[in-house]
Amino acid sequence: MSSTDQIQSELSEGILTLGINRPDKRNALNMAMYQALADGLRHADGDDAVRVILICGSEECFTSGNDLADFLSAPPTGPQSPVMQFLMAISEARKPIVAAVNGAAVGVGVTMLLHCELVYAGAGAVFQMPFVNLGLCPEAGSTLLLPGIMGHQRAAELLLLGEEFSAEKACAVGIVTEVCPDRDVPATARRKALQLAAQPAAAVRLAKHLLKRGHAARLQETIVEEGAQFMARLKSPEAGEALQAFMQRRKPDFAQFT
Ligand code: COA
Repeated sequence: MSSTDQIQSELSEGILTLGINRPDKRNALNMAMYQALADGLRHADGDDAVRVILICGSEECFTSGNDLADFLSAPPTGPQSPVMQFLMAISEARKPIVAAVNGAAVGVGVTMLLHCELVYAGAGAVFQMPFVNLGLCPEAGSTLLLPGIMGHQRAAELLLLGEEFSAEKACAVGIVTEVCPDRDVPATARRKALQLAAQPAAAVRLAKHLLKRGHAARLQETIVEEGAQFMARLKSPEAGEALQAFMQRRKPDFAQFT
């Protein structure tokens, strides 16, 4: 299993914790981090000692999503890219996944939650899916999963306007299981993960499989299609403008693009 100090993995009491740890870049995910997460998830599936996976960030930030500098210097180019490996691994994981979210959860920081079973968020957590704002398109199966849990209009609002939204709203629309005080998030997520780890493991895996069975094939197809479109959009002038604007700490100007 590959690991990096930016993804800290630890196995205890049947729970494999994958901790995102790149504070200077607000836990933005680079290629090595995606690969470590993908490897951790794949490893968990084959290791009988792992009964539950727990994904967390820090007290300040869950993750600011894909490293935007990487989009310019080393964009993903196909299904073998670490981001696609990660999306496949999290969407195909057989064991239950719990997430603990404090602070910002942006882009894939939100869409990865759609593949988790239990999501605990702090009251101060802030969510955003700014794919369209960046000239890109939604990913991680979110164009299938979001309308499924909240309906077309609410999914369209979150994806097309790409505005920030609160933990309370994330819970109301079904992305988050429960909102708790910020300081209680790690302990709550750990307690629920332990509760899940104490359940009969085969029955938990079967229930997860059955919950997802109805749309499993469409989900994989959607992730692949969104991924291909996303990679093409990375080369678009709109995305170029949005990414340059982020680097230059200015507002993007899309007026010239039709
Ligand atoms: N990729 C690369 N670097 C990122 C990043 C990302 N997704 N998010 C933040 N950073 C970097 C900033 O460039 C900055 O680096 P610097 O100190 O070397 O200049 C550092 O992290 C701190 O970011 P800053 O914006 O000052 O922090 P903040 O607390 O004010 O805001 C966020 C935090 C997450 C709200 C804000 O950084 C943000 O919106 N990031 C971009 C999120 C995004 O669009 N993700 C991609 C979705 S597809």
